[in-house]
Amino acid sequence: MKKKVAILGATGIVGYNFVKILDKHPFFEISELCASKRSKGKKYKDALKGEIDTNISYKTRNMIVKECTPNLDAQYLFSALSPDIAGKIEKDYAEKGYIVFSNAKSHRMKKNVPLIIPEVNWNHISMIDNQKTKGKIITNPNCSTIGLALGIHPIDKYFEIERITVVTLQAVSGAGYSGVSHLQINDNVIPHIEGEENKIINETNKILGNLNFNNEINKRKIKIDVHCNRVPVSNGHSESVFVKFKSNYSFSKIKKIWNNFKPEKRYLDLPSGIKQPIIYFDKNNYPQPKLHRNLAGGMCISIGNLKKSVNFHCQFVLLVHNTVRGAAGSSVLNAEYYYRDFG
Ligand SMILES: NC(=O)c1ccc[n+]([C@@H]2O[C@H](COP(=O)([O-])OP(=O)(O)OC[C@H]3O[C@@H](n4cnc5c(N)ncnc54)[C@H](OP(=O)(O)O)[C@@H]3O)[C@@H](O)[C@H]2O)c1
Repeated sequence: MKKKVAILGATGIVGYNFVKILDKHPFFEISELCASKRSKGKKYKDALKGEIDTNISYKTRNMIVKECTPNLDAQYLFSALSPDIAGKIEKDYAEKGYIVFSNAKSHRMKKNVPLIIPEVNWNHISMIDNQKTKGKIITNPNCSTIGLALGIHPIDKYFEIERITVVTLQAVSGAGYSGVSHLQINDNVIPHIEGEENKIINETNKILGNLNFNNEINKRKIKIDVHCNRVPVSNGHSESVFVKFKSNYSFSKIKKIWNNFKPEKRYLDLPSGIKQPIIYFDKNNYPQPKLHRNLAGGMCISIGNLKKSVNFHCQFVLLVHNTVRGAAGSSVLNAEYYYRDFG
């Protein structure tokens, strides 16, 4: 029997991506779609701000949207709630016994909350033992952090990263439905995204940190400079990354490490799992959002244009689909790993 799941914030950009992934999922069945008062009582297809994909099942498109009421049929909850209200709602559900997989920033940096990219740090899941609630909260990182941390993790393991500089070019969908207007972004670049730079710095050092005997994280102290830009691209965040290592490296080895990076065998057959989460392109004009964001259904990050850096050791460009691998897709992958290990 499939496990019942609900989507909180189902009518937003990330929520809709959850619906697309979970509508015909082999392990999970959507039992509830929840959003704000604005959407309550409407059929899902009518509560959405845009048109619904014709591939979404009749049952899901006509499901009546609920508010985030205390009692839901589901056991797993996927949260794509606005950051201002997510914290309390997710905590209340965890207290009631639900397993909450969250995309929101509210609990990510808490001492007892795992911040997970499954292929990178699934072992951090044991941090939930320190949550005293009946249910648990498991988070995935910010969309840019997911791309960055997944991309640097394999080379960090070999050569130990000392410092990084990152410049992001982030898609408009990253700001949610009400984020950036067409008039603001058309023919423009906005050189600031509120709060984003600190999230990338803090989250990366938590994800790449080591779990200690108390099931807490000893965070890394990688020195990270970040500058974020919003650009007129619909989906797909590009990141120019400059890296300095602590030990000897070679370009041929870096490329090999990326292309050979694989998830643990035991998780390879999960529905959202992919054999190759990172693809390196030996081309200096790759990756590009239009060409590469949908690789492996948006779950694969792509890297290209690896070259020498004068002030660092190397530099490269990385691309992550912000609403799939950078949000809903990663959350669902977390849930699939959890389902496999804990049921
Ligand atoms: N967009 C991305 O690429 C991305 C990537 C990673 C993480 N995230 C994070 O994921 C979350 C969702 O982002 P988004 O871009 O999908 O935002 P969004 O498009 O603005 O959607 C927000 C959702 O929250 C619901 N909501 C707002 N107030 C509510 C309330 N009081 N009670 C219940 N539901 C409420 C909205 O419902 P109504 O439609 O009924 O108002 C909508 O479903 C945010 O925390 C964001 O930071 C986003």
